[in-house]
Order: sequence, then C-alpha cells, then structure tokens
Amino acid sequence: MAILVTGGAGYIGSHTTVELLKKGYEVVVMDNLYNSSKIALDRVEQITGKKVKFYEVDMRDKEADRKIFQENNIDCVIHFAGMKAVGESVRIPLDYYDNNIGGTITLLEVMKEFNVKTILFSSSATVYGGKATVPFYEDSPLGVTNPYGATKLMIEHILNDLYISDPEWNISLLRYFNPVGAHESGLIGEDPKGIPNNLMPYIAQVATGKLPMLHVYGNDYDTIDGTGVRDYIHVVDLALGHIAALEYCTKPGVHIYNLGTGKGVSVLEMLHAFEKACGKELPYVIDPRRPGDIATCYANVDLAKKELHFEAKRTVEDMCRDTWNWQKNNPNGYRS
Ligand code: NAD
Ligand code: UFG
Repeated sequence: MAILVTGGAGYIGSHTTVELLKKGYEVVVMDNLYNSSKIALDRVEQITGKKVKFYEVDMRDKEADRKIFQENNIDCVIHFAGMKAVGESVRIPLDYYDNNIGGTITLLEVMKEFNVKTILFSSSATVYGGKATVPFYEDSPLGVTNPYGATKLMIEHILNDLYISDPEWNISLLRYFNPVGAHESGLIGEDPKGIPNNLMPYIAQVATGKLPMLHVYGNDYDTIDGTGVRDYIHVVDLALGHIAALEYCTKPGVHIYNLGTGKGVSVLEMLHAFEKACGKELPYVIDPRRPGDIATCYANVDLAKKELHFEAKRTVEDMCRDTWNWQKNNPNGYRS
C-alpha cells in the first residue's frame, strides 16, 4: 500500500515525504515541477536512505494520473499540488482556477475510478474571512479576498459535497497557518522563485546579502509593536501534523483541523529572532501596509491537540536556526 503525495517535490510536500518515509510508509510522488526541483527528491532520498518513486506529471492530465494509479497500489492521497501566490492569483486568476480547482477535480475523478477514497488536502488559514476574529477556530466564519483563497475554499466545498454524495470518503481538510523553517539537515527547504513574497524567505535572503533590506509592511497595526502578527509553524511540525491526521482520521467523514502553534509572532519579533540565529544585525525599513494584509492571524489549535494528539513543538528559535542553516548552505536554493 502506498501514499500518493501530489506536489511532493515542493516545500511542504518534500518535508512531509521525509517524515512519511521515516515512519515506514511507501511513497509515490507526483509533481509537474512547476515550482520545484527534482533535486529536492534526491535530497529526500539522501536524508532518509530510502527510494521515492517519482512521476513528473501534471495533475490535470487524466491519462497520466490513471497510469500512476494503475502502476501503484495507492490507498491514500496527500494533496499538496497547487499554485500558491496570493498576488499572482490576482493577476492570473484563470490559471489558478484551472490548476488548483480543475486539477483537483481531475485527481478526484481518477481516485474515484480506482476506488481510492482517502484524501488529505492542503487548505489554508486564508479561508477564514474578514468576519472571523482571532484566534481562528475550525468553525469560525469563512470567506476569502483573492482568487488563491477562493480556490482553497472552493476545493473545501467540493470535498464536502463529494462526501455528501458518497459517505465512504475520508477527507481531511488541513488549514495551515504560516509554514516556515527547513529540515534540520539543511538539505531541503523553501526555494522561492525570484524575489520572495513571504516574510521568512525574504529575511533569509537579507541575511545572506542577496537582498539589501527587509521592507516591513506597516508598523501602525493594533499589535504588540505595530507590525503584522502571524502564527508561524515549523515545516517539520506541519509534516508531522499530516502523519497525525493520516493515523487518527481513519474513519470516513470530513475532518477539519487548524495546523499552527496557536501563538502570534510579529514581523519585528521574527526579524530579531533571525538576527540572533545568523549572528548579525539585519537592515530594515518601514513601508506602508501591504494591500489585503490583516493585522493578526493565529489559530486555536485545541482540536488538533485533542483529536490528532498533535502539537507543534518547534520554537521560533528552531524556525530561524533551521531556515538560516538551509539558506547559508543553499544561497540559491536547489540551483546552488
Ligand atoms: P510549493 O509550490 O513548494 O509546492 C506545490 C507543488 O505543487 C510544487 O512542487 C509544484 O510544482 C506542484 N504543482 C503545482 N501545480 C501542479 C500540477 N498541476 N500538477 C502537479 N504538480 C503541481 O508550495 P508549498 O508551500 O509546499 O505548498 C503546498 C500546498 O500547501 C499548496 O497547495 C499551498 O497552497 C498550500 N499552503 C501553503 C502555505 C504556505 O504558506 N506555504 C500556506 C497554506 C497552504
Ligand atoms: N511581511 C513584511 N515584509 C515582507 C513580507 C511580509 O513585512 O517582505 C509581513 C506581512 O505584512 C505580514 C507578515 O509579514 O504581516 C507575514 O507575511 P507573509 O507574506 O509571510 O504571510 P501571509 O500571512 O501574508 O500569507 C501566508 C501565505 C498565504 C496564506 C496566508 C494564510 O503566503 O498564501 O499565509 O495562510 F494565504
């Protein structure tokens, strides 16, 4: 029996593949390498000493998807594949709807054909709309403000409807907060194309000198120091959250969990923690607020603790240390 990891060459997928292999699961990875490198999977093999069966396939290609299910005894899918940049999704919404929603429907159709009815889906805290107040609970009001978020919420709806149509499906909707960090080996990590949009990879590139300074988007929010507050979760903890969902959500249903730490950290707190990790001061300027940003976003994580027995253990210091270790050893990501 094998687990199909879609998007398994990507940031979260590669870390999850490591943890699955360490636990003895057989893993098949499907990825079209649109936003990732095959080298990540070579490194996964180096870390674990185990083989990963890899298909370079676009999930929208139904015939190619079928071939994966024909050639492997898949009993569960962990579905990471998708496009994920909020700003880009505003510019090219059709690509996002086609890839994320169209691709997921194709994948689900093939799963159905092969009677594989267990899926863990990468959802996001972005589905908690403007009406929700922190901390976000799994039953907080939902709503979205950009096409990327719309694809996540729509896929949640699609999966819910699928379960209503056929209660044999076992669906986990995992809502990630802000994944950061890297594997402690420094062999795999986040490798954004071009200038990073997200805070942690941006800070890391300031630390290597690749970028001159951090632009802090606003210091006039109603937060501890005026800068935006987020719930950062170490990517290895996030990977372990998937293993917990795999092992505890064994019955059919739609299982929804926040995966975060439950703690908020401001932009400046993160910057200063990174300065400690890399041993130097990092230059920054205060810029205006970034359109679409909210002041504060963090999870209530009681449900995952109670039902999945999962708790993120890694600290902000661990997140900064591991990001720095990855970044300094791979200043140009997998092209280094
Ligand atoms: P990533 O871009 O590193 O990984 C996604 C992978 O999917 C990439 O390797 C990409 O090549 C692949 N992919 C994209 N379209 C594909 C297609 N049509 N067919 C096959 N493969 C395809 O991103 P990530 O940070 O690892 O995110 C993984 C998932 O988690 C995504 O669905 C993302 O939306 C979700 N998520 C990420 C964050 C975050 O901040 N990183 C937060 C919440 C949710
Ligand atoms: N920030 C800066 N400077 C930067 C980048 C970010 O000050 O160069 C600030 C932002 O204003 C925000 C915080 O750092 O206050 C975190 O920003 P990120 O871009 O790292 O993360 P977001 O919370 O904005 O968004 C992330 C993902 C989205 C996802 C969302 C909710 O990028 O895809 O979390 O899960 F939808």
